[in-house]
Amino acid sequence: MKNPPENNIDLSYERHGTGTPLVLIHGFPLDLSIWDSIVPLLESDFDLIIPDLRGFGESSTVDTPYTMLDFANDIAGLLDFLGVEKAFLAGHSMGGYVALAFAREYPDRVNGLALVSSQAADDAPERKAGRYKTAKDVLEKGVDVVAESMTPKLSANEKVQEFANLLMKAQSKAGVIGALKAMAEREDFTSILPEFNFPVLLIHGDADALIPIDRAKEIKSVLPAAQLIKLKKAGHMPMMEFPKETAEALKKLK
Ligand code: MLT
Repeated sequence: MKNPPENNIDLSYERHGTGTPLVLIHGFPLDLSIWDSIVPLLESDFDLIIPDLRGFGESSTVDTPYTMLDFANDIAGLLDFLGVEKAFLAGHSMGGYVALAFAREYPDRVNGLALVSSQAADDAPERKAGRYKTAKDVLEKGVDVVAESMTPKLSANEKVQEFANLLMKAQSKAGVIGALKAMAEREDFTSILPEFNFPVLLIHGDADALIPIDRAKEIKSVLPAAQLIKLKKAGHMPMMEFPKETAEALKKLK
């Protein structure tokens, strides 16, 4: 679908199951297929709406810079298109930043929020500079640069590494660069957390080498009502490493 038509983004998505709408938002630099193992475990509980963010999977992108809010607006446009006013949102890693941007912009459209292997804080200056350096490397050498450096940090599980590596290599340069810059420029969402008047779940692997579980604990310290669900031995990709446990955790949104 064109979403919304005037911004020229053609957003691809999948929809499975019945129940309360739950939007599953993938992380960087991946696509909607990271949720494949979890779909059968959730589809009798939720109406699953699973987009490819702009620049990833089958979705198109634009050359001009964009932000977390643009990603969030794409999702709002998708929900409008589907006639869904309010939904639960689950964002994985960068998808969590998008979910937070959505929750800030459209609080009345959120039934509850799950941040999976994510964080609310913005980038420290050196991390931000590193994103721009990576964007330059991707432009010059291709997306394999990112795939090779991220793969070992995603999971200790070789099958998960293999799947994610191929998935990352299949993404477009433009999408990877656009998202790197959007992540570099994202703001700190910590201050908006106490304003949330819906349930917040923090689902985090205790072996996450990319975004340590301390980031989730930081969220809990400013939002004590948030429920932190620690997944033992899970790395950065719990929906693939431990689909059953991750699905059970997500069901707590209801
Ligand atoms: C992700 O997994 O979405 C990204 O690694 C998050 C990030 O780099 O901040």
